[in-house]
Amino acid sequence: MTHSPRKIIIDTDPGQDDAVAILLALASPEDLEILGITTVAGNVPLSLTQKNARIICELAGKTATKVFAGCDVPLKRKLVTAEHVHGKTGLDGPKMADPIMPLQEQHAVDFIIETLRAEEPHTVTLCPLGPLTNIATAFNRAPDIINRVQQIVLMGGAYFEVGNITPAAEFNIYVDPEAAEIVFKSGVSLVVMPLDVTHKALTNRARIEAFRSIGNEVGRMVAEWADFFERFDMQKYGSEGAPLHDPCVIAYLIQPDLFTGRHISVKIETQSELTLGMTVADWWGVTKDPANALFMGGVDATGFYALLTKRLARL
Ligand code: BDR
Ligand code: CA
Repeated sequence: MTHSPRKIIIDTDPGQDDAVAILLALASPEDLEILGITTVAGNVPLSLTQKNARIICELAGKTATKVFAGCDVPLKRKLVTAEHVHGKTGLDGPKMADPIMPLQEQHAVDFIIETLRAEEPHTVTLCPLGPLTNIATAFNRAPDIINRVQQIVLMGGAYFEVGNITPAAEFNIYVDPEAAEIVFKSGVSLVVMPLDVTHKALTNRARIEAFRSIGNEVGRMVAEWADFFERFDMQKYGSEGAPLHDPCVIAYLIQPDLFTGRHISVKIETQSELTLGMTVADWWGVTKDPANALFMGGVDATGFYALLTKRLARL
């Protein structure tokens, strides 16, 4: 059966794993129509994330993709970045030339608002891969767009895996917990890819070599990025490789049966200094709180890497 591609906006802070997610989406036009890529401050400051998004589009030869710059600081807090994971540029690893393709003049938040108002209701899916500042700002400024969103499929949070930036919190939620709270309370259908999933989608030698042996420029770059950032997680967790967090979001849109999860209540801690940004997930159903998210817990990692390798070979 043929179906028309799902319209998405990718909201991102690249980041090597964001880069792989964007490449997977760019390689999948039969499944996904990318209306725009909106960038936000996160892994590195906005001046770099907006540039990195354009570098990635150029690498894929998709220079007509619209890239927007959005919020450069979280709603209420000072920006926390993650150069210790992603390197100074956010895309450390292979050397990449500065992009030539232009940055759109419109602010990312205005683009999100305008697009949701212009498209038919429930036809646009938001795919946040970084802190939720742009999405929450759009919802605050234009509440009428909230019930026009088809779905939000995001990478963020953790439950059994607890935290990666603090003992209690995952990076994307921790950086802007107030924004996350707005999104999790918005009533929009949410699919959440937490660390519980992404830490089961680890790179290993064979998977990285499969990227390299695709034989195209994209395969080489992805292999080099993976080589760069796996050193951090291997040292930290003693694991075999590193998680490719953000591509789980795009893989879900293409092949949802790779993932398993539960419809549960998920709340964001915004008060406690100790557990700020924690995603308090009622996995065991110990409250009667209504479910606001499909919170994922499992992934077929072999299928996930097979999908990635197959699709990246098209670029
Ligand atoms: C998330 O934080 C970033 O470092 C990654 O790009 C991913 O979006 C994982 O906690
Ligand atoms: Ca990210």
